[in-house]
Amino acid sequence: MKKSIIKSTGMFVPPNVITNHDLEKFLDTSDEWIKQRTGIEQRYWINQEGETGSSDLGLEASKIALKSAGWKPEDLDFIIFATLSPDIMFPGCGCLLAAKLGLNSTPALDIRQQCTGFLYGLATADAYIKTGLANKILFVGGEVHSSGLDKSTRGRDVTVIFGDGAAALCIEGVETDEKVGVLASSLHADGNYAKALMTELPASKFPVRFPPDVPIEDPSYYPVMDGPAIFKKAVRMLPKVINESLEKAQINLDQIDLIIPHQANMRINQALGQFLKLEDNKIFHNIQKYGNTTAASIPLALHEAIEQERIGKSGDIVLFTGLGAGLTWGSVIYKFL
Ligand SMILES: CC(C)(COP(=O)(O)OP(=O)(O)OC[C@H]1O[C@@H](n2cnc3c(N)ncnc32)[C@H](O)[C@@H]1OP(=O)(O)O)[C@@H](O)C(=O)NCCC(=O)NCCS
Repeated sequence: MKKSIIKSTGMFVPPNVITNHDLEKFLDTSDEWIKQRTGIEQRYWINQEGETGSSDLGLEASKIALKSAGWKPEDLDFIIFATLSPDIMFPGCGCLLAAKLGLNSTPALDIRQQCTGFLYGLATADAYIKTGLANKILFVGGEVHSSGLDKSTRGRDVTVIFGDGAAALCIEGVETDEKVGVLASSLHADGNYAKALMTELPASKFPVRFPPDVPIEDPSYYPVMDGPAIFKKAVRMLPKVINESLEKAQINLDQIDLIIPHQANMRINQALGQFLKLEDNKIFHNIQKYGNTTAASIPLALHEAIEQERIGKSGDIVLFTGLGAGLTWGSVIYKFL
């Protein structure tokens, strides 16, 4: 049976480093508050001039992943792009990226699952490979948050946590009897909590999607979040979904070499580690450098974990997990070939 194997990874962040002190210049916040409550020290934001979409960041990450896999864009038979911040309302970033890669008929799918976009994307890639629908898949998670944040003090709880960036994976179907590749996926969603983290406008549900004079001060145009409610949900649901995926894969937590959680808040991931009684080096963190890059966060962390040789040897097992807007949450276990 074919197994879904990660051939390569790539990442890209825009050039502008925004430190917590930079945010202090226009928000009532402090480096101390941000570090203590979230673990974040800096994030990257796109340039204020010109146009840079999630697909542009995704393109740069894709070039690196494709080069390292030794693949040309024409080798791809499927593209999956996860983002909550598409360049434009439609068409999706997958189509835009495919065109930027010089392709004109490769199928492309967008995934709108926010912080769990990577988990849903990897599970989808695995299903496409195992059912024979595709064999060489490019997965990209990319976000441009900075252009849509409420940069007044009203929005400080959200604005300080988000960063721009992208990461890409080349995933290939490989025929082998070994128990490798995606061992288990557990995915969940609960739309009853949609309002706990959302951007409401523009919305097609209203008779007039865009009012004649878009009131820029209206908070409905910006992401709003019930941070404490999501924090509590994450701390409760992540251990459960981790256990669910371990059971599915029929392995123990001890067999996991590294946990790569979504980078939403260092405290959530530390609490997860304490709950699971894990040694500190079993959980990967890079939120200090990038903030929360949503769909890019887990693959970006995976890229760095491989670069730092924390994971990636044949037989290593990594567990990915996260919770975010939707609410959606999940866990995917992967064993390196
Ligand atoms: C957003 C988050 C960092 C806020 O941290 P918190 O410890 O829960 O803080 P609270 O929201 O309870 O706010 C505490 C105080 O800090 C203030 N505050 C909020 N943001 C602030 C900021 N950026 N700078 C300074 N003060 C801030 C609040 O106004 C509040 O003040 P008050 O006590 O006078 O009312 C945290 O709730 C979180 O990370 N939640 C989960 C996010 C998540 O996982 N989202 C899903 C993926 S995107």
